[in-house]
Amino acid sequence: MTRTVRINRDRLWASLMQLKEIGAYHDEATGLRGVRRLALTDADAEARRRCVRWMLEAGLEVRVDRIGNVYATRPGRDRSLPCVLMGSHIDTVATGGAFDGTLGVLGGIEVMRTLDDAGIETLRDIEVGLFTEEEGVRFGTDMLGSAVTAGRIPLDHAHKLTDGDGRTVKEELVRIGFNGDAHERRPIPYAYVECHIEQGPILADAGVDIGIVEGVQSISWQRLTIRGEAAHAGTTPIESRHDAGLVAAHVVVEARRMCDSGDFGQLRATIGNFGIGEGQTNVIPHQATLTIDLRNPDNDHMTSAEQHLAGYVDELAAHHGVQVGWERMAKTAVVPFHPGIQEVLAATADDLGLPYVRTMSGAGHDAQEISAICPTAMVFVAGENGGISHTPREYSNPTACGNGTDVLANAVLRLADQP
Ligand code: GLV
Ligand code: MN
Ligand code: MN
Repeated sequence: MTRTVRINRDRLWASLMQLKEIGAYHDEATGLRGVRRLALTDADAEARRRCVRWMLEAGLEVRVDRIGNVYATRPGRDRSLPCVLMGSHIDTVATGGAFDGTLGVLGGIEVMRTLDDAGIETLRDIEVGLFTEEEGVRFGTDMLGSAVTAGRIPLDHAHKLTDGDGRTVKEELVRIGFNGDAHERRPIPYAYVECHIEQGPILADAGVDIGIVEGVQSISWQRLTIRGEAAHAGTTPIESRHDAGLVAAHVVVEARRMCDSGDFGQLRATIGNFGIGEGQTNVIPHQATLTIDLRNPDNDHMTSAEQHLAGYVDELAAHHGVQVGWERMAKTAVVPFHPGIQEVLAATADDLGLPYVRTMSGAGHDAQEISAICPTAMVFVAGENGGISHTPREYSNPTACGNGTDVLANAVLRLADQP
């Protein structure tokens, strides 16, 4: 017989509202209070300690691995069986909101509390995890902790990544006290389920709180460094300039043109980081750097977009007499989620009377990494303001968060009782 639980929505909401105070800042652009909790900063450390406290208060066994991922276990009846894992991340971008990632972690902790309140025992262990540097904003590679766990990125490589000030992941893990000793290649779970805000408009447009996620689109991150030559603004003839800033500007415009052209499927391109250093009014810029974030739900379209851009930049560099250097920051292919786990989520939503839509994820998630080691799927929760995210305007209301976490709880309960 299928048991049904309901999470405590007020308790979940209270946890979300408490965590958002850690790393809170005043966002000039929106006039709102946002969250700035970059991975392995003091704010992240404080938020981690708060989560660990909540995990211990829920009677869970807590461990930290060598890339700083934190796991908390609720023992099942047969501890020899692989566990059911929930999780997400609590690091944010520099202009973050209260829900991206944290809903999956605090929702997971709430599931544990709910099972305790209901006096429910499960066959398998259930774990909730939080993964290090999902955003990739500080150390340049997204889904870092989960990618190390899944074996895609070697621990040593991850430890040596540096932030803008040259501080390494390893140094920062040690400094904040989260350089754990559990092995990063964790025991293989029976299944992984991640609850996350949608960060887009599809659910709200469909008038539902819940999305069953079919997979994650391909992500490509590269850093482009353009080196030209500084020269006098007034005296240097236009045709003999090596203007790094001009070349960078062309790349920005071409990236958008590629999206609009339709030649690369549903390509999305973003130049989120663009600079010409100090810059002087009367000096031609000698160097420019930019990051290029490409997303595509089709691997072949992604490949041709990358190839086109590389060719375009080569021609541009030759024309303007500048040197270009490419640095690969991150690259992941399209990841389809496990049909069986999607079905468990769909059946759970049906039984709870919660309508849903099926959708691909536009954003990257830890689930896409963990899906390499065990059957994985995700539940999405609708957001307001068009599902806007990575800004303090990000907002999912208490009912939507509660409904999504109810789906998480009951799906995990079913999976944890599967022999
Ligand atoms: C994660 O937030 C991403 O960049 O998709
Ligand atoms: Mn996220
Ligand atoms: Mn994010």
